[in-house]
Amino acid sequence: MRKIDIFDTTLRDGEQSAGINLNTQEKLEIARQLEKYGVSIIEAGFPASSPGDFEAVKQIAGTVKNSIVTGLARSIKSDIETSWEALKGGVQPHLHTFIATSPIHMQYKLNKTPEQVIEIAVESVKLARKYFPLVQWSAEDATRSDRDFLVRIMNEVIKAGATTINIPDTVGYASPIEYGSLFRYLSENVMGIEKVKLSAHCHDDLGLATANTLAAIENGATQVEGTINGIGERAGNVALEEIAVALHIRNDYYQAESGIVLKETKRTSQLVSKLTGVVIQPNKAVVGKNAFAHESGIHQDGMLKNPETYEIITPDLIGDVTTELVLGKHSGRHAFFDRAEQMGFVLSNEKLNAAFVAFKKLADRKKEITEEDLFVLLTDQQVQTSEAEVYELESVQVQYGTSNIPTATVQAKTPSGEVEVVSSTGAGSVEAIFNTLEKLVNGKVHIIDYRVSSVSKGRDALGEAVINLSFNDVISTGRNASQDVLEASAKAYLNAINRQIVKAHYQEQREAVAQ
Ligand code: KIV
Ligand code: ZN
Repeated sequence: MRKIDIFDTTLRDGEQSAGINLNTQEKLEIARQLEKYGVSIIEAGFPASSPGDFEAVKQIAGTVKNSIVTGLARSIKSDIETSWEALKGGVQPHLHTFIATSPIHMQYKLNKTPEQVIEIAVESVKLARKYFPLVQWSAEDATRSDRDFLVRIMNEVIKAGATTINIPDTVGYASPIEYGSLFRYLSENVMGIEKVKLSAHCHDDLGLATANTLAAIENGATQVEGTINGIGERAGNVALEEIAVALHIRNDYYQAESGIVLKETKRTSQLVSKLTGVVIQPNKAVVGKNAFAHESGIHQDGMLKNPETYEIITPDLIGDVTTELVLGKHSGRHAFFDRAEQMGFVLSNEKLNAAFVAFKKLADRKKEITEEDLFVLLTDQQVQTSEAEVYELESVQVQYGTSNIPTATVQAKTPSGEVEVVSSTGAGSVEAIFNTLEKLVNGKVHIIDYRVSSVSKGRDALGEAVINLSFNDVISTGRNASQDVLEASAKAYLNAINRQIVKAHYQEQREAVAQ
């Protein structure tokens, strides 16, 4: 059985998508889950791009032990050296460096001749190998590059010490047969290719990312790159859970295995969706909420007679198990801690205690606490940071009547430590809250996207709000789950603002250290 290494880039290519902004704790949490999920490599970020990315990559490299941790670097000396500082604490330091190879990118973006591009690629791989035992080199926009140029440049970067060669379909342009044949061609023509790993990296602009990635596997790829839930720039990257499940279910055909712990699929997918605020489409393959729903009478009848008539993947395979009521109002600290442990949470005593207090508060207002509720409470504690002084909502009150002007009053602690009370009106309750909060934060806020949904079932379910906004022209996403959607909305709004404050705080700290 061939082994296909899974290279996860949720925290790099995925995090690059519009509106996603994860803090260090959230990235660490996702990285820990990816390790549990069994991915071979985690691309934790782009260390030279920002102090926040540098810090997150460094912490992930120092924490994750069972997956290789890598970071992205342009073919620039300072990028490679900064990446080394971030990644050197990892068990097997790995660097991912790249340069564009298509005529359009070389001419318009890089303003370099093909010869110059070869020279830069070779120099950067040689430099990277001085530090890193493992160096992946990518030919950006490979699928719109000249094949013989790809052979030439790959001959040289392998000689220079690259240990993995990646062939990205950067703009999601290739068709499956074409992409597969490119892998075959390069496998047959590049010198020394059999000594390195050969990687596929597909974007989904034409909806072909999964088909292209599987075609690459059929034609010699030994590693595939993608993201959880397929998040990523524009139409996203290939969804890794689809590849892992396809290799498992069609093992008879592909004769390859990924090493992925399939039972962790649902949890990994939910964690990424919750922390990024990117909703999973209901009919999404493998992890969509309707992926196992059989509606039509004919299908239901078939399922009753023999589930295999219509079900090729079982919910159980991906860890989608329905757990009913888990804890209630009378459950004690011990039962709560036990449950948290069973659910795989590793929290400090301080965080466990804070989660327990939140649980008790919720149990007073909600009859049944489900695993979904606990997941929200525990994840929120796990990703809490106290890196900077931020806004804290103390109370929100809304006066609404069909014939009144909705008015909101907010009491909140500001970053300076003072408590302020602010009021404003709006066309509806939510707008009144948002107008009030805009006064509080004293900047220009534009709401780009706003969604509320329920976390579990029933009329007393927790309400979750996700807001994508720009604050003084910087975009960020905030989220919160509370018993009431108005409270969740106010907290999600402040959460988006606070992320920017924490980011700026980091930037200042790094600049102070650098001086
Ligand atoms: O899509 C792409 O080309 C990339 C490279 C940086 C590998 O993400
Ligand atoms: Zn990409």
